[in-house]
Amino acid sequence: MERAWVFSVWNLFWPIMMMVLSCEKRRNSAGSPDTRSQSFLVIASEVACATTGPGSELMPRFCGSIISATARRCIFLNHHRAPTALPVALATLSTMAETEPMKKALISGITGQDGSYLTEFLLSKGYEVHGIIRRSSNFNTQRLEHIYIDPHNSSARMKLHYGDLTDASALRKWVDSICPDEVYNLGAQSHVGVSFENPDYTADVVATGALRLLEAVRTHIETTGRKVRYYQAGSSEMYGATPPPQDENTVFHPRSPYAVSKVAAHWYTVNYREAYGLFACNGILFNHESPRRGENFVTRKITRAVGRIKIGLQKKLFLGNLKASRDWGFAGDYVEAMWLMLQQDKPDDYVVATEDSHTVEEFLEEAFGYVGLNWQDYVEIDPRYFRPSEVDNLRGSSAKIRELLGWKPKVDFKQLVAMMVESDLERAKREKVLADNGYIASHQQP
Ligand SMILES: NC(=O)c1ccc[n+]([C@@H]2O[C@H](COP(=O)([O-])OP(=O)(O)OC[C@H]3O[C@@H](n4cnc5c(N)ncnc54)[C@H](OP(=O)(O)O)[C@@H]3O)[C@@H](O)[C@H]2O)c1
Ligand SMILES: *[C@@H]1O[C@H](CO)[C@@H](O)[C@H](O)[C@H]1NC(C)=O
Repeated sequence: MERAWVFSVWNLFWPIMMMVLSCEKRRNSAGSPDTRSQSFLVIASEVACATTGPGSELMPRFCGSIISATARRCIFLNHHRAPTALPVALATLSTMAETEPMKKALISGITGQDGSYLTEFLLSKGYEVHGIIRRSSNFNTQRLEHIYIDPHNSSARMKLHYGDLTDASALRKWVDSICPDEVYNLGAQSHVGVSFENPDYTADVVATGALRLLEAVRTHIETTGRKVRYYQAGSSEMYGATPPPQDENTVFHPRSPYAVSKVAAHWYTVNYREAYGLFACNGILFNHESPRRGENFVTRKITRAVGRIKIGLQKKLFLGNLKASRDWGFAGDYVEAMWLMLQQDKPDDYVVATEDSHTVEEFLEEAFGYVGLNWQDYVEIDPRYFRPSEVDNLRGSSAKIRELLGWKPKVDFKQLVAMMVESDLERAKREKVLADNGYIASHQQP
């Protein structure tokens, strides 16, 4: 750390000197103050590029911000013909040194439900957010469209890069080139039912994927001496068959390839913390939903159906086990918990939950009831959706994060269901307009 600091002061010295010199030179040259300022800015950005290009990985953005601040001061001087630029440049340097540079986060799974909420949250905190997206023949960035700014626009603070948790070389490349302060591993084949059908792939992405990202972070730290914090998206599914309430000390008894893989990822994370002193945290998150929840997860499947049935686009809803009980929270509340874990002095593992659980049947009652329908008239059981081994009851005990980090959920069960039904009702209305005008068939979802 200290070494990096000395280097960066060194790195800063010559561009600032150059700034000051060209400033003085321009002060004596012809042209209106405005054209002089403009040409000055061009030089400043050139210098900033030169210092922040490849090979100068030592705090480049810090350099960049100091240079541009110095440039602004120099423009001021051009207008006001101050006797010397040097003291001002030095003053600028010292004020800039006191302000925190913009933090960078790297998120795997940025295109998912949690990825999109976390991105919004981190952008609001002033972060630059980098995300790893999978190559797909269809666009998979719908959840990010509302926050996307074209990368040619210098105000864009969210940046997307192609990569995959199965591709160690890509992970390594992005960690090394982005130099993040915080890495959030949210990427996963996250569907429990699908994990029974694609077990190898699930293990590769969820378990070994976490290991690959941990390795990329570890080697990056080893070669650069930088500080990087790592968040692992753990799941209440890891508790599986262990009865509730479940907290950080409850034994894991996973009941699906997905859950087993999450347990492996959990222990990889603990191991990297113990073996290498990595600042790595496991968030053991109980189910969390939102209007952006994937459409083949039971809550969203229900609220989508409620909207479409209410509007007259659908007649039946097929589901599996209605007796399963879950602790459902709002994803927007949960991403804040992820961030909080990485802001502490010491890395640790935390359960994140509402401590309130409901069965799928209760969810149905609440969601259909919200639009004045009776769920029994529409729902049919399809044994195809039963799991080879079911998880009956998950209800978290989140005393640790509530007491130590002051986190608590803001949205309760009823509010969550209402939020999802309202959003899906609006969506169904739009679909109805398209269907009625012949732009889509009524079974199609645009
Ligand atoms: N939501 C919950 O209730 C809950 C609870 C506990 C834990 N978790 C875990 O928390 C994380 C986020 O959950 P979520 O609800 O946001 O899940 P999600 O909506 O299914 O998002 C998963 C993300 O992972 C990406 N992904 C899938 N395979 C990948 C691969 N091979 N390489 C890189 N990225 C890949 C997906 O990309 P595409 O968009 O291209 O598919 C997507 O961005 C997941 O790890 C999940 O298992 C979720
Ligand atoms: C850059 O993005 C900002 C924020 O979205 C927007 O206000 C501005 O018009 C954009 N500039 C250009 C040149 O597109």
